[in-house]
Amino acid sequence: MTEIVSSPRPLPWSVRPGARTWRCAPAPAEVRAFHAALPGYSPTPLTELPALAAEFGVGRVFVKDESCRLGLPAFKVLGASWAVHRTLAERATGGTEPGPVTLVTATDGNHGRAVARTARHLGHHAHVFVPQGVHPQAVAAITAEQAKVTEVTGSYDEAVRLAAQAAAAPGAVLVQDTAWPGYERIPGWIVEGYSTLTAEVDEQLTAEGIDAGPDLVCVPVGVGSLAQSVIAHYRSRPSGPAPALLSVEPDTAACVLASLAAGEPVSVATGHTTMAGLNCGTLSSIAWPYLHGGLDAAVAVSDADSTRATAALAALGVPSGPCGAATLAGLRAALTGAGAEKRRAALDIDTTSVIVLLSTEGPAANPHSTTDH
Ligand SMILES: Cc1ncc(COP(=O)(O)O)c(C=O)c1O
Repeated sequence: MTEIVSSPRPLPWSVRPGARTWRCAPAPAEVRAFHAALPGYSPTPLTELPALAAEFGVGRVFVKDESCRLGLPAFKVLGASWAVHRTLAERATGGTEPGPVTLVTATDGNHGRAVARTARHLGHHAHVFVPQGVHPQAVAAITAEQAKVTEVTGSYDEAVRLAAQAAAAPGAVLVQDTAWPGYERIPGWIVEGYSTLTAEVDEQLTAEGIDAGPDLVCVPVGVGSLAQSVIAHYRSRPSGPAPALLSVEPDTAACVLASLAAGEPVSVATGHTTMAGLNCGTLSSIAWPYLHGGLDAAVAVSDADSTRATAALAALGVPSGPCGAATLAGLRAALTGAGAEKRRAALDIDTTSVIVLLSTEGPAANPHSTTDH
């Protein structure tokens, strides 16, 4: 009789030596002051989880909890608010007729809701294109912000294409959180807007007595704009040790891993994932040089991995949605299991390491976490 031994699936993993010496320019300092002046602003919590430090055999583990950011259940409003502010200021100085504009965007959920909220607060209109696979409650949350919603029978990439077409109408502006050749300024402002998140992490770690900053930061990736912002932050610091940076994406939408393997940006076909905000097959064109230059390692995780991580964080008191918990799933994949010693060495992880996980959404942002399993 032949015994069938199923070999474990190899971990989707890529490592890039030298990324910590890569350097770039920082985001403008005024972004933080802009957000601090918004009504309802306060830094989101940076929660220490000693149980995770013990599990992984490291010094300290912190989770940046974006489950309530300016009244929304994800970090994305940091980018939308700054980009819309810059866009409207530019229109005003450029002599464009004053009056309401229509902010157009495509979304996997969180960015569209943030654009719609920003438009409503400022007395403008929003038109949001939503691909297949976004949870009906996430769509309803965008409609509740008084946005016009167009549901697209296609992928996120297709929704982006249709939004760009719609934004050619008079009085409309595309506020997209991904760039392509010829459309880079507004996505660049969105990336700048995210810098408030890492600026807060610096201050919060200092308050914890950690002046040198973290040793490893784990960031979830959809189109890579958040990762671009995180890389820009940690690779533009004038002094101090540079942390290792690890990207985490769904194994069904692993465009960072595919692009790193190809040595150039490549698109991947996407399917369904509970990590809806990460369900993107094409990287932002302006993110690629940062990912290619400044990212130490990339890993992909399954929906089941993310679900387990969501439950673990909930048990530790951190409310996290599937995209937010993906970073814990990615850390667990990197630091444990077959081959973990090599991966730890590549990330310079030891028993004193300080690790920051970015949990970019709460359960309310993406109800897949509560209804699909
Ligand atoms: C909750 C959440 N986390 C992470 C991301 C990934 O950000 P990016 O698409 O900039 O890589 C998104 C994107 O929509 C998101 O909604």
